[in-house]
Amino acid sequence: MAQNDQVVIRIVHLDARDAAAVASLHRSFITTGFLSALGERFTERMYRAILSCPTAFGLGVKDETDRLLGFIACAEDIRKTYRYSILLHGLSMALPLLRYLFRFSAIHRLWETFRYPSAVGEGLPRAEVLSIAVSPLLRGQGVGQMLLDAALNDLRNKGIERVKVAVGAANTGANRFYERYGFRLALTRQHHGEPMNLYVIELTGDNARAAAGPSARIESRLPGPSCSRCVAERPIAPR
Ligand SMILES: CC(C)(COP(=O)(O)OP(=O)(O)OC[C@H]1O[C@@H](n2cnc3c(N)ncnc32)[C@H](O)[C@@H]1OP(=O)(O)O)[C@@H](O)C(=O)NCCC(=O)NCCS
Repeated sequence: MAQNDQVVIRIVHLDARDAAAVASLHRSFITTGFLSALGERFTERMYRAILSCPTAFGLGVKDETDRLLGFIACAEDIRKTYRYSILLHGLSMALPLLRYLFRFSAIHRLWETFRYPSAVGEGLPRAEVLSIAVSPLLRGQGVGQMLLDAALNDLRNKGIERVKVAVGAANTGANRFYERYGFRLALTRQHHGEPMNLYVIELTGDNARAAAGPSARIESRLPGPSCSRCVAERPIAPR
């Protein structure tokens, strides 16, 4: 039990039922990208596709009342994840976008988003951190790092050795976050008319923070069997 003004937060596996809450956090806190501008219904359907895809997964930060306060979404293989999402959820995702049918710039951006997996640099890993966000109430207390620990640990347990992440170059906080974690800048390219940094982290080898760190840290915090969806938990004092 947490003391005084502390709450216990848990890292849990998310599923399609969490899509609306994840989409709401995305739209509130990831304000720099194009996806946030595409409306609530699209974002929710996109996360429904991601969270039900066999080659993708999401982890969330929940408090004792089951409120979602942060999340991370990852693809083990970005091409397979896009293909699955388009084949099985494409129509449902396309319907909220019909209003953009006659807006050339939006169509162009959608096309660029659609082509993203094949357009990013050859030689970069197909495993990818798709998005991460932590409520401002919990920021600066290691929660983002905890989410990344747990996600990279999952990817490593699936046999994945390298993971990339794409971040708008203007998002200085997120760039710093990934650099502090140990991601290395692989290249910068234009995306939606803005520079986008592509970072890579190695999950194996001596220099990989994620190779030794997450499993040791996470395993020491594994909750009991009463919480089957939990990966880790710890007390925290919200701001
Ligand atoms: C990026 C984000 C997830 C970080 O979450 P967080 O819980 O505050 O991060 P942590 O407390 O685990 O920080 C880990 C490290 O990154 C650094 N860091 C995190 N956010 C930072 C920021 N805005 N500026 C500079 N450094 C930052 C921390 O200083 C810390 O470094 P340390 O190990 O030297 O102390 C959070 O700021 C956020 O939700 N941002 C908005 C959404 C977003 O831009 N997502 C990325 C694009 S998908």
